[in-house]
Amino acid sequence: MRLAGRVAWVTGSAQGLGEAIAKRLAAEGCRGLTLSDIQPEKLERVAQGIQQAYPECKVLPLFCDVRSEAQVAETVQRTVETFGRLDILVANAGVIHAAELTEMTLEQWQWQIDVNLTGYFLCAREAAKVMKTQGSGVIIQINSKSGLKGSYKNGAYAASKFGGIGLTQSIAMDLAPYGIRVNAICPGNLFESPMWQESLFEQYARKWGIPQEAVQRYYEAQVPLGRGCTYEDVCNLLVFLASDEASYITGEAYRVAGGQL
Ligand SMILES: NC(=O)c1ccc[n+]([C@@H]2O[C@H](COP(=O)([O-])OP(=O)(O)OC[C@H]3O[C@@H](n4cnc5c(N)ncnc54)[C@H](O)[C@@H]3O)[C@@H](O)[C@H]2O)c1
Repeated sequence: MRLAGRVAWVTGSAQGLGEAIAKRLAAEGCRGLTLSDIQPEKLERVAQGIQQAYPECKVLPLFCDVRSEAQVAETVQRTVETFGRLDILVANAGVIHAAELTEMTLEQWQWQIDVNLTGYFLCAREAAKVMKTQGSGVIIQINSKSGLKGSYKNGAYAASKFGGIGLTQSIAMDLAPYGIRVNAICPGNLFESPMWQESLFEQYARKWGIPQEAVQRYYEAQVPLGRGCTYEDVCNLLVFLASDEASYITGEAYRVAGGQL
């Protein structure tokens, strides 16, 4: 219960890592949880599940496309109307489309920049307006190891995530005088995620010219600790960064990638 009484907002929380983060925030004692996504039915199911498992944590599921300035502003407004404040933003919503440079369309490029970078900017900006008036708050971006090192046939995703690190470092300085901390978490490969299960195994088999069933072993072989990243690995760091134990930490980007550089 390291986040007892806090109010948090997790974007892209209808599935995958965002769903796991939402559950963990409830388990750590948050009293209010805004969950947002563009998949309303899945989001509703996740919200109901958390509400049942953690009756003391009030869950507010909202449709919000992080690319929409109006929807992001409304999500923050509804959060404050419902819970009276906002302590923690987890900017988790993200998309990926792997492609070699000359095969990447402007549309694919723009989609990844819009969701992964502009979406983070909009959510951080609107959350920070509330946090500034409170004189406290924590913003955590779910970035990627591809935000710290170039990624083969994955330029748009890497560019969008590198941009997120620049934004994190910069707004950490803007917001420090107001008691708001901003950090990024850069996970390794989350093989259990729908992102891998529904799309990346297939995309990466094509990219490397190997069979789909060989992809996981290929990626694990690049990790000194010899396994993929789990939701729990990410949540453990996230809870620490969101808590007062991390009160002297801002503007950082931490890999959770088993030693993979
Ligand atoms: N899966 C991995 O291996 C991995 C590794 C490193 C970093 N990450 C990052 O973790 C985060 C979560 O990824 P995941 O694996 O859970 O992916 P996922 O595809 O399972 O979940 C992403 C969620 O974001 C939502 N989303 C997509 N576009 C949106 C938009 N415009 N507005 C609001 N929500 C939107 C989706 O509906 C989905 O629920 C992403 O930022 C991703 O880049 C993932």
